[in-house]
Amino acid sequence: MYSEKVMDHFNNPRNVGEIENASGVGTVGNAKCGDIMRMYLDIDPETKVIRDCKFKTFGCGAAVATSSMATELVKGKTVEEAMKVTNKAVMEALDGLPPVKVHCSLLAEEAIHAALWDYATKNHIQIEGLKEPKKDIHDGEEETEE
Ligand code: FES
Repeated sequence: MYSEKVMDHFNNPRNVGEIENASGVGTVGNAKCGDIMRMYLDIDPETKVIRDCKFKTFGCGAAVATSSMATELVKGKTVEEAMKVTNKAVMEALDGLPPVKVHCSLLAEEAIHAALWDYATKNHIQIEGLKEPKKDIHDGEEETEE
């Protein structure tokens, strides 16, 4: 049911932890399943390149695997490029997720956006396409289940 890549990132999640004095921190949750994800970004103030990204996820295996993959995808990218790391991009990089687990990848996308929002707010800048994050992603969840 899960791809090898999902199992790999679940069993050996990359970039787990916290970043002290992070440039941006974002926490999101899904009230429906109760899962919570927090992302930390270390951003070069000059180039706006994401030098490091770490996460902590209290959630299901797919949430762990998607957050792990999301951190890998945003590392080394500029904040604008990181906006293109959508949940679909994360899912593709993981060779797909079962339909009932798609919302878990949304949590990863929203956690990155929340951390970018925190960074943008602190630095009084705007990042194209970035909107204020929702605290509970279930509010805006695509109707992929039920
Ligand atoms: Fe909640 Fe996966 S079941 S994030």
